[in-house]
Amino acid sequence: MGLHPVGLLTSLGAVPKPLHCIVAVARNGVIGLGGRLPWHIPEDLAWFMDQTAGGVMIEGPACYAELGKALPGRGTVVVSRDPSKSFPGAEQATSLAEAILIAERMDQWKGPTWITGGQRIYAEGLPLCERLLITRIDRDFEGDRFFPADWQKLFTKLVSSKAGEYQGLGYAFEVWER
Ligand SMILES: NC(=O)c1ccc[n+]([C@@H]2O[C@H](COP(=O)([O-])OP(=O)(O)OC[C@H]3O[C@@H](n4cnc5c(N)ncnc54)[C@H](OP(=O)(O)O)[C@@H]3O)[C@@H](O)[C@H]2O)c1
Repeated sequence: MGLHPVGLLTSLGAVPKPLHCIVAVARNGVIGLGGRLPWHIPEDLAWFMDQTAGGVMIEGPACYAELGKALPGRGTVVVSRDPSKSFPGAEQATSLAEAILIAERMDQWKGPTWITGGQRIYAEGLPLCERLLITRIDRDFEGDRFFPADWQKLFTKLVSSKAGEYQGLGYAFEVWER
C-alpha cells in the first residue's frame, strides 16, 4: 500500500488543505434511513451549510442524490466507481484518495476539504481527518446507515460544544480534534 493522499502531498512538498469531517449522528449511531436523514433539524442544516461553505465536499452518489445537486458556494467531488453515473456541477472520482487529490487542486475553494458521507465515505475518510464536527442528537432513531462506532478512539479532544433543541429534540454541536 502506498502513501495516503495527505502523506503523498506532504512528500511532494505541498501543504495539503486540512481534512475535516462533518456529520449528524443519533444516540444509536444512525445517520440515515432510506436515503434520507431520519430527522429534520433546521439549525443543523444551517450549521452544515455554513461550516462547509468555501471548502470542498467529498460525498457519495446517494448523498448527491439526496441534496439534488452540487451545493452552491463550495466545491463538490462525488466518489463513485460507476462511470455511467454523472453528477452535474461536481467533479467525479473513483476512490476517496483520488477525491482528496482533486479537492486539493480546486484552487478557487480555499476552505478545508470536508468528508460529508455517507456510511462508507465516513468509514474510510474519518481516520484521515484532523477535525470532526459532530451534531449529537439526543435520541435513538431507526436507520440503515451508521457512523463508525469507534470515532472517540480517534478524536479525544473536545474543542467546543453548543446545545440546541427543536420541537423537543435535543442536540449538541460538538467539535473534536485528535
Ligand atoms: N447524518 C448525516 O450527517 C449524514 C451525512 C451524509 C449522509 N447521510 C445519510 O446517509 C445516506 C446516504 O449515504 P450512503 O452511505 O447510503 O451512500 P453514499 O455514500 O452517498 O453512496 C454510496 C456509494 O458511494 C460509492 N462509494 C462509496 N465509497 C466508495 C469508495 N471508497 N470508492 C468508490 N466508490 C465509493 C459507491 O457508489 P457506486 O456504486 O456509484 O460506485 C457506493 O454505492 C442517506 O440516508 C443520508 O441521509 C447522513
